[in-house]
Amino acid sequence: MIGKTILTGVKPTGAPHIGNYVGAIRPALALSAAHENSYLFIADYHALNAVHDPSALRKDNYQVAAAWLALGIDPERTAFYRQSDIPEIFELATLLSTVTPKGLMDRAHSYKAAMDKNREANRDVDADVNMGLYTYPILMAADILAMQSDMVPVGKDQVQHIEFARDMAGYFNNTFTPVFKLPKHQLEKEGSLLPGLDGRKMSKSYNNHIPVFMDKNARKKLVMKIVTDSKLPEEPKNPDENTIFQLYSHFADADKINSMRKAFENGGMGYGDAKKLLLEALEKTFENPTQLYNEYMADTSRIDDLLAKGAEKARKTAHETLSKAREAVGLKPLR
Ligand code: TRP
Repeated sequence: MIGKTILTGVKPTGAPHIGNYVGAIRPALALSAAHENSYLFIADYHALNAVHDPSALRKDNYQVAAAWLALGIDPERTAFYRQSDIPEIFELATLLSTVTPKGLMDRAHSYKAAMDKNREANRDVDADVNMGLYTYPILMAADILAMQSDMVPVGKDQVQHIEFARDMAGYFNNTFTPVFKLPKHQLEKEGSLLPGLDGRKMSKSYNNHIPVFMDKNARKKLVMKIVTDSKLPEEPKNPDENTIFQLYSHFADADKINSMRKAFENGGMGYGDAKKLLLEALEKTFENPTQLYNEYMADTSRIDDLLAKGAEKARKTAHETLSKAREAVGLKPLR
C-alpha cells in the first residue's frame, strides 16, 4: 500500500465507452486501490461552464457515479464525492485567486484553445468564454490542494493544470506560511487509445464507440459491425492493423491474446470467429458491471447516500486545509 494521497477528478460526461474504461477508469481504479488515501470526485461545477441544461447535468452526474460504482470503486476506502458538496473548495478557490497572477490564466491551454477556435471562426476571441472557463485552473487547483493531494493521475491535456496547481500552492506557501502540499501529476499511459468500430479512434463524437454498459444483444450487434477487410479465414493477417485484435488485447488474458495473434499471423483465424472471442471477453468484463449499473440507475437514492458519505469524509480534510489557509492569511480559522 502506497502511503501517499491520490486524487482523481472526473468530468460528468455521461456513461463511458470501453475506450474510457481502458484509458482512464481501469488505471484510476488500480491507483485508488493501491493508495492508502484516495479521493475520487465528480467535477460537476466544472461541467457547469459548458452544460446549461439542468436535467442533462443531473443525468450525466448520476451516470458517471453509477459507472464508477459499478466498475469497482470501493466507497469504503476511497472518498467518492461530488465537488459541489464541498463548499470549502469554493472558498479555497477565492483565497487562491488572490495570489494567482492573471497572466497564468492567460497562458492556460484550455483558454487559449477556446480563443483559437474563435479566431478560426472569425469571431471575437472571447466569444462564449465565461469567467468559469477562464478561471477553471484556479478551481481545479482548489480541488487538488484542498485534499492535500500528492499525486493526480491525468491525461496529457490536463498536465498543465496540475503544474498550475503546484504553482499556486507555491505562491501561497511563499507569500504566507506553508499550508499546501505540492501536487504532482501522473501521466496516464499513452497508447491505450482504442480503435472504434470503423477503425478510427474510438470516440462518442465519431459515434463509433462501444458503451461499457449494454445488454448482451446490443453489444453483439455492435461487435458484429466492426469493419474488417475481405480477407478469407485461411489468409494470414496482420493483427496490429486489425481492430478486433486491438480491442481483444485489452480485455483477454495474456495467453488468449497470444493465441489470437498467432492464429491471425499464421492464417486460420476468420474475422467472424475473432469477433465471437472478442464478444466473450467483453461479456466477461462487463456483464456484472452492467447489471450493477442498471441497479444503481434504477435507484439513484443509493448513489446519493454513498456520495453523501464520501462528501462527509472529504469535507473533514477540506475543512482542515481551509482553516489553516484562512489562518495563514490573517482571517479567523474555522472552528
Ligand atoms: N479538468 C479535468 C478534466 O477535464 C477534471 C478535473 C477537475 C480534475 N478538477 C480536477 C482532474 C482535479 C484532476 C484533479 O478531465
